[in-house]
Amino acid sequence: MIDTLVDKLWAQHGLEEAEYARLIEQRTDESAALLAQRADAVRRKIYGNAVFVRGLIEISNICKNDCLYCGIRRSNANCSRYRLTPESILDCADEGYALGFRTFVLQGGEDAWFTDERLCALIGELKTRHPDCAVTLSLGERSHASYAALRATGADRYLLRHETADRAHYETLHPAEMSYDNRMRCLRDLRELGYQVGCGFMVGSPRQTAAELAKDLKFIESFRPDMCGIGPFVPHRDTPFRGESAGTVELTCFLLSVIRLIHPPVLLPATTALGTIDPRGREKGILAGANVVMPNLSPVNVRKKYELYDNKICTGEESAQCKDCLNDRMRGIGYEIVTDRGDIRKPY
Ligand code: 5AD
Ligand code: FES
Repeated sequence: MIDTLVDKLWAQHGLEEAEYARLIEQRTDESAALLAQRADAVRRKIYGNAVFVRGLIEISNICKNDCLYCGIRRSNANCSRYRLTPESILDCADEGYALGFRTFVLQGGEDAWFTDERLCALIGELKTRHPDCAVTLSLGERSHASYAALRATGADRYLLRHETADRAHYETLHPAEMSYDNRMRCLRDLRELGYQVGCGFMVGSPRQTAAELAKDLKFIESFRPDMCGIGPFVPHRDTPFRGESAGTVELTCFLLSVIRLIHPPVLLPATTALGTIDPRGREKGILAGANVVMPNLSPVNVRKKYELYDNKICTGEESAQCKDCLNDRMRGIGYEIVTDRGDIRKPY
């Protein structure tokens, strides 16, 4: 029964919403293994055993938003706030370049200090110093005009997780002043402006159901993102969700395999959250169909402060150590980190 759904997904790159829900609800170790095997084969056909790296620079933990799950939400008074200077961001990128990174991800809270003017100057300098690198932004919701200005100065990609494709669930994860419609508007604007766009969601967020995950999968099927970031929800002690349980490695890996089969060329990270809830979580994610890892390039003295969830890993290591650690982990399972921008393989 479930095998039939796996076959259909593999052949058609999609299922009905109710079928996705059934695939998730009735999953077994056997169906997960079959999906992972198919996902791995499909990914190998496109990318071989290459794993792409992105150098993650966490530029600010100051955020105007108050998402209920997030450790850097504005009402967390225990969060010690920081903002990197443009010079220090450029230093991180220079160090990353020497280590072989060809993509930099500037990620941060929605910090008003990073105006279009300041970001454009920063992106322009980054592209001048490293013209062979891709610049990915992950800075939350901005206006169409802002996305257009950043794109015009050279930003190549933008990550903005949709968080959930179910409106009612979205509203249980966010305060009333945030809107599902604006989130989706941002993703469409980014696509229209020619960015390579990443969406994504948390697995196992409080009270999430298989029916809601099925909507996420339908959304991915229709939106066809270039990247898709999924990782387990992990509670943070200073948020309203402190007492909730974390998502699982098992369900996250299952969904990674499904997403790989829905959209074979998608760039799919084995996330830090996955590595946080299981010491071999990222290896398991790669084996399930992921093909990207994102080692931390932030200055070591701020890493603990960019704490979206409890016990986040990679906060004590230098950038070079983090890169070597992931190199060893990937080699250990038969994959190879490559020095490459890691663009999505077209045509698709
Ligand atoms: N657990 C897991 N992921 C989280 N994020 C934020 N808070 C948490 C948490 N507690 C994710 C969100 C956001 C991304 C930057 O980090 O999906 O989009
Ligand atoms: Fe960062 Fe292992 S990947 S320390």
